[in-house]
Amino acid sequence: MPQMRLDKFFSSQNLATRKEVKELLKQGRITVNGQNGNKGEDKIDPQLDEVCLDGKRVGYKKYLYLMMNKPQGVVSATNDQSQPTVLDLVPPELFRPGLFPAGRLDKDTTGFVLLTDDGDFAHRILSPKKHIAKTYHAVISAPLSEEQMNSFENGLVLKDGFRCLPAKIRLLKEGEQPLVEIVLWEGKYHQIKRMIGALGEKVLSLKRVKMGNLPLDPDLEPGACKEILHKDVERILE
Ligand code: URA
Repeated sequence: MPQMRLDKFFSSQNLATRKEVKELLKQGRITVNGQNGNKGEDKIDPQLDEVCLDGKRVGYKKYLYLMMNKPQGVVSATNDQSQPTVLDLVPPELFRPGLFPAGRLDKDTTGFVLLTDDGDFAHRILSPKKHIAKTYHAVISAPLSEEQMNSFENGLVLKDGFRCLPAKIRLLKEGEQPLVEIVLWEGKYHQIKRMIGALGEKVLSLKRVKMGNLPLDPDLEPGACKEILHKDVERILE
């Protein structure tokens, strides 16, 4: 692993700023391989060297992956002049420079958004060639006929003539405004709203509940996020 400045190591893990590292070093609270007397600019190998703060080993995570339950009214962007973004919701203890949402949900769509600073991984899950399954729960304005349900399997044609890839739809809860589960293997702009619109109905609410094989944690409150480990985030690619 390439070497890294000791102060950068701490700031990359969101543990301390460069200035704070200087102070911690002065106070003798940071050791490298058991040794005191290091400087912020000293180079370390984050995987080989044993860096301790107050005697406790500081683990190194190259990348961070956060599962967020996006609430309504928040945009899937890194910054916005007038509206709150998903990054604004990340608590300081989980925040890292370089985090961004890997994929977008509409402002009024809720549910699973992955935030990461791993550009390669984001590229892999966003690549249209990968056809990652995304599962949504939607409340729609009226029940659909069997024929309308079947049109999802066959590649529904949108009002603008675009033919969608075959998708799946199943009824979760009957009613005047039924709840359906929809699985897509592509992600066009407003896709589910446009698919339901092509059938003459409206989406009343939409939530993403799963990416690939990784479900949204049902205990995650709207607006909350939690760290997920690399081995679990790989389930998105399954
Ligand atoms: N389809 C939509 O219409 N909106 C989303 O946010 C996601 C899928």
